[in-house]
Amino acid sequence: MDYKITLLPGDGIGPEVVNEAARALNAIADKYDHAFNFQERLMGGCSIDKYGSSLTDETLADCKDSDAVLLGAVGGPKWDDPNAKDRPERGLLALRKGLGVFANLRPVKVHPALIDSSPLKPEKLKGVDILVMRELTGGLYFGQPKMRETRNGKQYAVDTLEYYDYEIERIVRLAFDLAKGRKQKVTSVDKANVLESSRLWRQTATRLGKEYADIELDHLLVDTASMKLITAPAAFDVIVTENMFGDILTDEASVLAGSMGMLPSASLGEAGVGLFEPIHGSAPDIAGKGIANPIGTILSSAMLLRYSLKLELEAQALEQAVDAVIASGARTADLGGPLTTQQMADEILKHI
Ligand code: IPM
Ligand code: MG
Repeated sequence: MDYKITLLPGDGIGPEVVNEAARALNAIADKYDHAFNFQERLMGGCSIDKYGSSLTDETLADCKDSDAVLLGAVGGPKWDDPNAKDRPERGLLALRKGLGVFANLRPVKVHPALIDSSPLKPEKLKGVDILVMRELTGGLYFGQPKMRETRNGKQYAVDTLEYYDYEIERIVRLAFDLAKGRKQKVTSVDKANVLESSRLWRQTATRLGKEYADIELDHLLVDTASMKLITAPAAFDVIVTENMFGDILTDEASVLAGSMGMLPSASLGEAGVGLFEPIHGSAPDIAGKGIANPIGTILSSAMLLRYSLKLELEAQALEQAVDAVIASGARTADLGGPLTTQQMADEILKHI
């Protein structure tokens, strides 16, 4: 089969890791007789530099017109001026919104060979297999009003945390559906003791939970959840939560996997184009050195194969190649090893 995949390498280490992921996808295409047609576009700081906009209408249209989008990372000190009228991150948010990808799946698994790479005690890490589902197109990131002004001679800024019931419902429903094929447990995370939007979130999750009699549902306040992620991470199965809570909890959860460089993500909507990106950022401190870990992006490509192209066998082949390489002891710098980005990808390619 022929597929069109838009690559958005972005900024910092983005181009380095996307390049290796595209090689891995090509290796899969060769082995399983597919053709992946890549079209590369600018998004983020590089797009501000070239077009004066972090996401142009043309790039968004090209993304919508493909089977899937693979993104590296955006941002960097060059574009960090708080007074700038556009920022790389705005492009990313506009892309998520534009593609309607409300569900961000961030699986966190601990490879047995990486248990010692995490600062947590090994006995806590046994059996950790969490799927964090972060709401991605609502909440604090997008709520209006969002602005800054001078009021009575004082600087004033506001962000708004808002949700409609249908926005909560569609992601919580997906959490229940995905829990069916797992350990059948959903933990809904909110701050219902303080926030009105969280009380709506909890009520909605509870109502839906009645439709899913086989799935265990519990609720945790986000502060408690952040503690349990460290004290008892193996107790979680599927976690579903608001956009910003999910952003924070997944950086925390990445520590379980030994390195943030390991973690992939998939962003999905009702139908349409999926967006796939590693959860790490642009890492300006190591950009251009060729030492970034490509695994987060390569595993994101596996999710792309699974969720957008419906190529489950191919997705598993790629995941198994990564597993085998980690088991063999291959390590990039983030995991204390000597391999470059390209050498790590070479190892993975050998296992495809
Ligand atoms: C992430 C990142 C982004 C986010 C930034 C770069 C806007 O931290 O994907 O987790 O906050 O969503
Ligand atoms: Mg984040």
